[in-house]
Amino acid sequence: MTTRLDISILPPHPQRAGYDRALTAGSIADDFQRRLEPTRFNPAYFTALTGRIEQALAAAPGNHELRYQLACLLLQNNATLPAVERAAALLDGCTHPSSRRLADLAGGIQQRAAARPATPRQVRRVNWSLHNRCPMACRGCYNAFVDQQVTPDQALAIVDKLATHGVTDLVIAGGDPLLWEPVYDVVDHAVDSGIQVALDTTGYTLTAAKLTRLSRLASLRLPLDGTTPAIQRAFRRSKDPDLTTALTESLDLCDATGYDKVRVHTVASRANLHDLAGIADNILPRPSVKQWVIFQWWDRRATDALRDAMHIDADAIHEQITKIKTRYPDTEILLAEAATREFLNWMVLSSGQVVTFASGPDEEFIIGNLLTDTLEEIAHHPVLDYEAMARGVPVTPASL
Ligand SMILES: C[S@@+](CC[C@H](N)C(=O)[O-])C[C@H]1O[C@@H](n2cnc3c(N)ncnc32)[C@H](O)[C@@H]1O
Ligand code: SF4
Repeated sequence: MTTRLDISILPPHPQRAGYDRALTAGSIADDFQRRLEPTRFNPAYFTALTGRIEQALAAAPGNHELRYQLACLLLQNNATLPAVERAAALLDGCTHPSSRRLADLAGGIQQRAAARPATPRQVRRVNWSLHNRCPMACRGCYNAFVDQQVTPDQALAIVDKLATHGVTDLVIAGGDPLLWEPVYDVVDHAVDSGIQVALDTTGYTLTAAKLTRLSRLASLRLPLDGTTPAIQRAFRRSKDPDLTTALTESLDLCDATGYDKVRVHTVASRANLHDLAGIADNILPRPSVKQWVIFQWWDRRATDALRDAMHIDADAIHEQITKIKTRYPDTEILLAEAATREFLNWMVLSSGQVVTFASGPDEEFIIGNLLTDTLEEIAHHPVLDYEAMARGVPVTPASL
């Protein structure tokens, strides 16, 4: 086993690269552009900023920048239907360049709300970004991060809420949940409560002892994005210069210990399309690997330069998968297309805050918090799109 570096970071927000550095620190415009940073992405910050913008707009009602900013915050901060209506009204005739897109999102929310049945809504599948630290900082990581971390007792109480509501499938992810010692109790408690649990880890700190403690999972997801460190680095950045060896060793460990519930995650981009066949040859003959899920690299957080370097069409990935399937007809290989991902996630963050997100760079929506709200309340949030939420790849591989 190669040595693992002691790396545990709160990944930097990818949008920082696109900030307007000319804005004055502490101004409304600067605080608005930074609102999704981990220390700010919460209702208290959003509510305070909303108050400042309301005041500024009252003094300058013709300011379209302020109208757009207020509409954004109304939609993103636990929006009620009246708040969505107010946002739509603010965006009507607004000249801000992004107002058309935001108006479309508000219109979609209003349409869904009008068509929503009166029957209770059920959330079946939950993604939980349980721990906010990670050994990596991937390029364009779509995950939302907040700086707060629930306590172990709070995490167990959240599991109780999920089980009582009737959640059947839980994906525990991060960051990297294996950097948080209480995760094993959370997994066990969820399994004891009748929930199928999958866990996404970077695999960077995996050991045989940890695998034993994770024996009750429905599946363990491990990443591999390239057959060489250089290809791996195109997406998955880390202080460790040779992640390929580290991640391959994690898969070796699963084979050696008979842990046969592995699903490999590969993020497919322009940088590794040519390497997918090589990755297949590394992972698919392994007894531990039951499913391979390829995520089309999603550009929602990307700068134009990063998009140019990384974007690849889904058709090109399908073409590669078709070829690979002729050699490995018995393994389940699935593609998660970026176009299907808007509003797909019902995601709990490390603070208990619940969010969903659309496809734009700053389109994160706070819809509640499982420390304070019931799951039934959050399930009725007007922003949710139940058709999109049904599109996710099943949590358990079909062969298990
Ligand atoms: C958000 S991560 C969380 C779990 C863990 N940190 C990991 O990376 O495996 C869940 C999955 O989303 C993938 N992912 C993250 N950002 C992505 C992006 N911009 N496009 C496509 N997939 C992405 C990750 O590689 C991983 O397979
Ligand atoms: S994709 Fe996963 S490993 Fe990479 S920074 Fe995001 S959470 Fe961490």
